[in-house]
Amino acid sequence: MSRNVVVIGTQWGDEGKGAIVDLLAERAHAVVRFQGGHNAGHTLVIDGERTVLHLIPSGILRSGVVCLIGNGVVLSLEALVEEMDRLAEKGVPVDDRLRLSPACPLILSSHKALDHARERALGSEAIGTTGRGIGPAYEDKVARRAVRLADLFEPEQLRERLADLLDLHNFLLQRYYSAEPVSLEEELQRLAGFFARVKPLIADVPELLRKMQSAERSVLFEGAQGALLDIDLGTYPFVTSSNTTVGGAATGTGMGPAPIDCVLGIVKAYTTRVGAGPFPTELFDDMGRHLAQVGAEFGSTTGRPRRCGWFDAVALRRAAFTNSLTGLSVTKLDVLDGLDEVKICTGYRLDGEILDTPPLLMDRYGECEPVYECMPGWREPTSGKTAFSDLPREARDFLRRIEEEVEIPVDIVSTGPGREAVIIRRHPFDPDQDSNT
Ligand code: GDP
Ligand code: IMO
Ligand code: MG
Repeated sequence: MSRNVVVIGTQWGDEGKGAIVDLLAERAHAVVRFQGGHNAGHTLVIDGERTVLHLIPSGILRSGVVCLIGNGVVLSLEALVEEMDRLAEKGVPVDDRLRLSPACPLILSSHKALDHARERALGSEAIGTTGRGIGPAYEDKVARRAVRLADLFEPEQLRERLADLLDLHNFLLQRYYSAEPVSLEEELQRLAGFFARVKPLIADVPELLRKMQSAERSVLFEGAQGALLDIDLGTYPFVTSSNTTVGGAATGTGMGPAPIDCVLGIVKAYTTRVGAGPFPTELFDDMGRHLAQVGAEFGSTTGRPRRCGWFDAVALRRAAFTNSLTGLSVTKLDVLDGLDEVKICTGYRLDGEILDTPPLLMDRYGECEPVYECMPGWREPTSGKTAFSDLPREARDFLRRIEEEVEIPVDIVSTGPGREAVIIRRHPFDPDQDSNT
């Protein structure tokens, strides 16, 4: 039976999506990225070896798996080629496995410069972006003036388009932000060099997906970032510039939503956030520092320390609805090992009332105070466990409580960074075969 499975981050990113995608890719024909860009950092740990992927889908280390980058992704050719080279050096046949949509808007040097200039100008109000040029690249896409991968096939047209765009970017950079301009000739040269490398990989992604569907092949759609960073549904303006929620899997690939069979929401057993913006369950005490240290919470892309806090069921309830989640994968359960007590935020207190969904006005998200349910922790470690029945009773109760709060089954539990440290209760590609319950 073929299945289309979407993997979505349900918090502020870094939930462990990459590791789960790598795991599930064993049963998939293809893995597709549909939004974001190299702001993502997805970590895979296989036989103790760590690989961080930024743009290339997390199925790339599985032989026989086709990896697609859909039109919803903003593409830095420089970052892509660097990542391809890094994988090729390790012996991964990346050129054979990877295909790119010609409709991807390109991230240019000037987008990166604008991202930095804007953050600098915002000062204390800065978003804390990854500085990869993501926001400015999406702005140009929506303004219908982007340079897309397809434009590289027509050098003369490319020169014209790029000249017009750099006119605008350089005006902003120099006159508005007092920053250095970007040279048209140098940018053209850079793009030509990268294009020579990636040209053979350009393919009709919707058509490939249509053929896979007719051949009854299973496809995995890999989300980047998380639901609370969604441009429309997240904690605006402290968000990224794409639709990180499930709708992006359709618009960002060219496949309609109807063939999606399963949407797996990835959620940490606690919460983290990189960059600025509201975070109701954030901890500023020793517990917060404990989670950061045990969970090794440093950004995979920028190396910045991640802010840490307790599990937030209110935010997850909203993400469950906006993503039509059919199952959850709870990751990093092992990080909570050895605590006397663990907490789940079940409501937000705002204006003397208790809310069980986020506030009407996202501007007020920062004023929400968490209402916690405290649960006993567990002494016996969950680290590395592969069967649900082997988990300490308190850990099982914690997971059951999450299921009750959001009314979504916990299908997968991750108990360590390695590929093997996982409990699969219901496999998204084979949901009828229950195990480990
Ligand atoms: P992604 O962006 O959602 O793919 O997540 P990241 O790779 O940015 O961050 C997740 C981090 O947690 C990585 O360092 C993973 O190796 C690690 N990780 C993933 N799952 C687990 C787990 O179950 N336990 C522990 N201890 N670490 C995990
Ligand atoms: P993965 O896929 C965590 C955050 C940035 C910043 C905001 C906007 O690894 O989960 P951007 O550069 O996108 O304009 O930054 O979004 N952010 C992420 N946080 N994980 C990510 O990706 C992120 N990608 C962007 O820190 O707050
Ligand atoms: Mg990450």
